[in-house]
Amino acid sequence: MNFLKIMMDTVVSGIRSTGNLHLGNYFGAVKNFLKMQKENNCYFFIADYHSLTTHPKPDDLHGNIKQVLAEYLACGIDPEKATVFIQSDVPEVTELYLLLNMNAYVGELERTTSFKEKIRKHPDNINAGLLTYPVLMAADIIIHRANKVPVGKDQEQHLEMTRRFARRFNTIYEVDYFPEPDAYNFGMELIKIPGLDGSGKMGKSEGNGVFLADTPADIRKKVMRAVTDAGPTSPGQEPSEPVKNLFTLMNVVSDPSTVSYFKEKHASCEIRYGELKKQLAEDIIKVTEPIHARINDILADNGFLAKVVREGAEKARASASKTVMDVREIIGYRPF
Ligand code: TRP
Repeated sequence: MNFLKIMMDTVVSGIRSTGNLHLGNYFGAVKNFLKMQKENNCYFFIADYHSLTTHPKPDDLHGNIKQVLAEYLACGIDPEKATVFIQSDVPEVTELYLLLNMNAYVGELERTTSFKEKIRKHPDNINAGLLTYPVLMAADIIIHRANKVPVGKDQEQHLEMTRRFARRFNTIYEVDYFPEPDAYNFGMELIKIPGLDGSGKMGKSEGNGVFLADTPADIRKKVMRAVTDAGPTSPGQEPSEPVKNLFTLMNVVSDPSTVSYFKEKHASCEIRYGELKKQLAEDIIKVTEPIHARINDILADNGFLAKVVREGAEKARASASKTVMDVREIIGYRPF
């Protein structure tokens, strides 16, 4: 490792390969990756082991991974600056995951919000991989001894658990080996991008998302269909949840002057939601169109993708295997 890399913060973040990237992924995570890749030692990966909790068909798995990889690169993640890799190309992470599992308690895993939500939504598929999802995620992060993890608001609790597992390891073995990484968004609040269906966050499977791979026509159609309400009835009235969500989206894609124009219209009960949606759709398209245009070119360039993945795996494995060797030593494995 060169001197500069030692001085830099290490950044790790991943995105599951369970569907196309949407605006939530872009503004919650990927946009920060772009800002961070210049000045940090960054590892960005496709979390394809994590994607197995939902049992993708073998014929689909590779395509899912390739799609998200192409979308990452189309957004501007630069494999010359960051280490871009596929999680399953670095099997060292599964060893660290196993070792961390020995000190992760079923009680704390069962109390995780994301796990409880899965139980509620998919009671027919409560597998052990879901239960230990936060442990694998912690392994992803601390295997590179990262300090910063750019993620959206929904990952905050997982990050807290990562810190706890790192601290616990250090305490048990009386070492100061793993840093406690922080969820990171340039000193600003972590972002939560709402969906278009009036409630909750934008998700890959919720049917409420705008995807980077969507055509402008798709986006106009989706935004025009977004849930609103019957309109404000008294001046200065607080917008309802679905309308607030549209304002939140507008806040990230539109000019501040556009946002205040529509907020004033709402406050004076003169707002026309159709006009707001039209503007919102166009401002979203301004963000997605250049990315959308690059995705297909990158997908068609298999040679390039293969090179990115091969070089990324090499760099990630070098860093991961060093950590696993240290951890084995700390735990007490000795050569014969
Ligand atoms: N859990 C993250 C998500 O659902 C994906 C993820 C897996 C991740 N491992 C990670 C994110 C490590 C940051 C760091 O989006």
